[in-house]
Amino acid sequence: MIKNRLIWFADFVDSHLCEDEFINRNIELKREHTKMVCLEMQRLCEILKLDPRLTELAMITALYHDLGRFPQIVEYRTFSDPQSCCHATESINVMNRNSLLEGLDETDSNAIKTAVKLHNKLDFDTESLDEKQLLLTRMIRDADKIDIYRVISEAYHEYLKDPQSYNRAIGFGDFEQKKATPEIAAAVIKGKPVLYAGVKTFTDRKLLHLGWLFQIHYDAALNRIHSRGYIKMLLESLPDCPLCCKVRTTVESYVKNRLALSAGIYEQKQKIT
Ligand SMILES: [Fe+2]
Repeated sequence: MIKNRLIWFADFVDSHLCEDEFINRNIELKREHTKMVCLEMQRLCEILKLDPRLTELAMITALYHDLGRFPQIVEYRTFSDPQSCCHATESINVMNRNSLLEGLDETDSNAIKTAVKLHNKLDFDTESLDEKQLLLTRMIRDADKIDIYRVISEAYHEYLKDPQSYNRAIGFGDFEQKKATPEIAAAVIKGKPVLYAGVKTFTDRKLLHLGWLFQIHYDAALNRIHSRGYIKMLLESLPDCPLCCKVRTTVESYVKNRLALSAGIYEQKQKIT
């Protein structure tokens, strides 16, 4: 079944291509992002040892989570939701318009829609979700973030190589503005989510991405982000102001402690089994 969905997805993406190089470049960026999120999702399914049915629902969620990005870039020429539309809502609109969840039972279809709706939210109320909704929501939020770290690190390196040509649609703002806004740094130090609305400088944007680390649910996802060097890259590129130094030590010790704890639990499990 997922094979037909992949064919539909490829056609859907192709239908947004046009004569405009800027649009096409960003469409390909999101096509690649979706592919990578699907791979990260597959990996999480294997680590969590999900059964084939839940794995299929998780893979559908990954494939459809960013459908709204394609009409968004064509219509608004940006991936900034505040400057255009909520792309998660638009993803659900695309799913509904194309009856993509037809044939699934209602609980499965609701779980996918809930996860897609919540995948980009700052935070969400875990109490209001049933078990399946919660699982898919946590998985897509983590799988999505793992790949966003890849996208931002590639964009940063692209910028360092050639500041003129880097892709502004990703919405990093001005790379030259290096000061950290104290409220943003303070939120990260406390492990609190950073609001997009408060982001003023490039350093703030990096702090926002570092703040996400406290929201990663699965240790396996945190380990993936860590082992790919994304955290190191973000931390090393922060300016040397006292606030950023405090962020650096806070994030480093949080990640170190959490990964050490999960490695310890894993070793214990290995001994028992
Ligand atoms: Fe998204």
